[in-house]
Amino acid sequence: MEILSGVFEDLTTGAPITLFIRNRDVDTRPYEILRRLFRPGHGDYTYFKKYGHFDFRGGGRYSARETAARVAAGVVAGKMLEPLGVKVVAYTLELGGIRAGCIDLDLVEKSPFYCPDPVSSQRMEEAVSNTRKEGDSLGGIAEIRVTGCPAGLGEPAFDKLDADLAKAVMSVGTVKGVEIGAGFEAARLKGSENNDPITPSGFGSNWAGGILGGISNGDEILLRAAMKPIPSISQEQDTVDREGHPSKMNFTGRQDIASIPRIIPVLEAMVKIVLADHYLRSKTIP
Ligand SMILES: Cc1cc2nc3c(=O)[nH]c(=O)nc-3n(C[C@H](O)[C@H](O)[C@H](O)COP(=O)(O)O)c2cc1C
Repeated sequence: MEILSGVFEDLTTGAPITLFIRNRDVDTRPYEILRRLFRPGHGDYTYFKKYGHFDFRGGGRYSARETAARVAAGVVAGKMLEPLGVKVVAYTLELGGIRAGCIDLDLVEKSPFYCPDPVSSQRMEEAVSNTRKEGDSLGGIAEIRVTGCPAGLGEPAFDKLDADLAKAVMSVGTVKGVEIGAGFEAARLKGSENNDPITPSGFGSNWAGGILGGISNGDEILLRAAMKPIPSISQEQDTVDREGHPSKMNFTGRQDIASIPRIIPVLEAMVKIVLADHYLRSKTIP
């Protein structure tokens, strides 16, 4: 990565920071088929409907290659959060239906799948390897925890902290669901269960996931993201060509089997960006 502007002698200058990443490992040959056919589950069809013309060579706007830029920006946001003591950690809760049985945050970085449970991590590896042989793909669930976030970040109406976090996380490819705190489970709880008791020493529970009324309450912020399986699979699928004629396609080439593990640092970055943004906004209030 090259830093083109905004940093001088290890400090920001106040000018916009430009981070530039060259893709030096390009092979466009497998994408040639997309000149005619749309991949089911991918953005080819909708891009063609919207623009009538798009770059199908694998590096287009809807390629997950763009997430590298999010990770780079997340590092800058993280530098702003560090002095506040805010820590963001994302990990794999589930991959291909295999769930982490225990959560030991010290093990996250040691697992190739960012899985906090070594036994599940091993099973995930096997599942990915078997799925690759079948030419198929897998989905999963990531959990993101924010500790040390002060109370008071967020806005009470349109730019609620939970709304901004959900939008940021949902803006990453393959993410199809976002939960905050109890999430969908809250729909099955009674008020007496879901309300986190307030005590002089803090909250008695954290079903709220650290956010109330769009504003952080000082407790741990807890999010989950559900990711769909990778759309490009090495199996024959029904599709159409650009003229709408029925066709079959079998996509081959360098493909991920699941957006996990690559998506984990991306989700972490998106959460950092939103928190840094709200931190800057909170500083404008005397
Ligand atoms: C980290 C990451 C890696 C991905 N890798 C691939 C891939 O190798 N092949 C593919 O077809 N899609 C891949 N995707 C998924 C597509 O980018 C995405 O599903 C597609 O653009 C459709 O958008 P949607 O998921 O928002 O519907 C990946 C997504 C992420 C976040």
